[in-house]
Amino acid sequence: MNFQLTEEQLMIQQAARDFAQQECLPGVIERDEHQKFPHDQIIKLADLGFMGMMVNPEYGGAGMDTISYVLAMEEISKIDASVSVCMSVNNSLVTWGLDTYGTEEQKRKYLFPLAQGKKDGELYIGAFLLSEPEAGSDATSQRTIAEDKGDHYILNGTKNWITNGNSASVYLVMAQTDVSKGAQGINAFIVEKKWPGVTVGAKENKMGIRGSDTHSIMFNDVVVPKENRIGADGFGFKFAMKTLAGGRIGIASQALGIASGSFERSLQYTKERKAFGKEIMHHQAIQFKLADMATRIEASRLLCLKAAWEKDNGMDYTLSSSMAKVFASETAMWASTEAVQIHGGYGYVKEYHVERFMRDAKITQIYEGTSEVQRIVIGRSILK
Ligand code: CAA
Ligand code: FAD
Repeated sequence: MNFQLTEEQLMIQQAARDFAQQECLPGVIERDEHQKFPHDQIIKLADLGFMGMMVNPEYGGAGMDTISYVLAMEEISKIDASVSVCMSVNNSLVTWGLDTYGTEEQKRKYLFPLAQGKKDGELYIGAFLLSEPEAGSDATSQRTIAEDKGDHYILNGTKNWITNGNSASVYLVMAQTDVSKGAQGINAFIVEKKWPGVTVGAKENKMGIRGSDTHSIMFNDVVVPKENRIGADGFGFKFAMKTLAGGRIGIASQALGIASGSFERSLQYTKERKAFGKEIMHHQAIQFKLADMATRIEASRLLCLKAAWEKDNGMDYTLSSSMAKVFASETAMWASTEAVQIHGGYGYVKEYHVERFMRDAKITQIYEGTSEVQRIVIGRSILK
């Protein structure tokens, strides 16, 4: 077993670290406060090749491995989880899904610019539309209907909580085409935001990741050409589940980054803040918090890297990605709360960043499958 990163992986990690410090840190508090989508940061991420990291260069991607993706996600999430969720959705849900299951035509038309993150010099990213007002964890209960009309489908319904909802140009939409077939009657479609009948709802006013744009999306008699269906008829739910298995590595890495950002700021603060005549790092209660944070963060990192390694080696990573997500997200919630405690009153105000980490951490336990859903996936797998 080799725990050493390659030269290339170390370079990517350093590039992501530099990017986060230089491009994401300035203005992160204001973007959070005013719910401002990090447009300029995403354009620059695209220039670095980080919006289609794992996509074959033939289709506009950077051809990197999943380990590099985990490293980059951690570094960027240490500073701004609103930037990293946009990156995660485009990388592991949208471009990976199209790269793996798209037709040659779909890849040329959609994957290429999505992996570049730009088209004609403008932002060009995607969103993944599975959740609905009545179908979140219970994702097979889709109410959005795509009626087969021969050479096209007619799409009607509403999707909820869509990350990149307004900033995306392309939506991957799951919809029911045959209710009698249950999960096997679901299909996935590529839908363009600019098509007639597509409406973007109001932006959600969120607790955390406030820079990311979360919207509901409505479809009213939208004509979707048959060539925009992904995979064979009825493949849509499996497409969603397989794509989400990789997505969960991305969100686990986001949680890992929030936890390590919380730790790094806490460590620094304990070296500076004095109480009872000494730096607070010399109080054993504080040292124990730091020791527990470091240990749980390392365990989260190893779970993320193991899932990524399995993916890179063509193995089944469904179990390990759920384990990584549930463990890393619970670590992020706990570690960011400890970070606020270590900072005392200063932790409760925005300038010290850790209150944002605490708010941002919560979503990692909810999206791309709640912690309860991850335990369902893990439980079913170990009982098999
Ligand atoms: N790979 C391939 N196929 C799979 C699969 C997988 N990982 N998991 C399930 N399937 C297949 C099953 O084999 C089954 O197929 P058959 O009908 O042919 O047997 C079919 O899918 C239905 O599976 P289940 O019976 O297991 O379905 P279920 O109703 O019990 O639900 C679940 C399982 C794991 C709870 C699933 O519904 C789930 O993951 N829910 C959470 C949804 C989710 O994660 N949403 C995230 C939205 S995207 C997002 O959140 C992005 C963001 O924020 C940034
Ligand atoms: P519910 O499914 O109603 O769950 C409510 C509670 O019940 C949860 O605690 C859940 O764990 C629990 N529960 C449900 N079923 C069970 C069970 N069988 N056993 C035990 N407990 C159970 N979705 C997308 O498709 N695309 C996106 O881009 C996207 N981005 C998001 C961004 C944000 C900021 C948010 C808040 C959500 C986003 N989502 C997105 C939706 C997200 O994936 C769902 O919110 C999530 O899957 C949970 O679904 P729900 O909100 O309907 O909760």
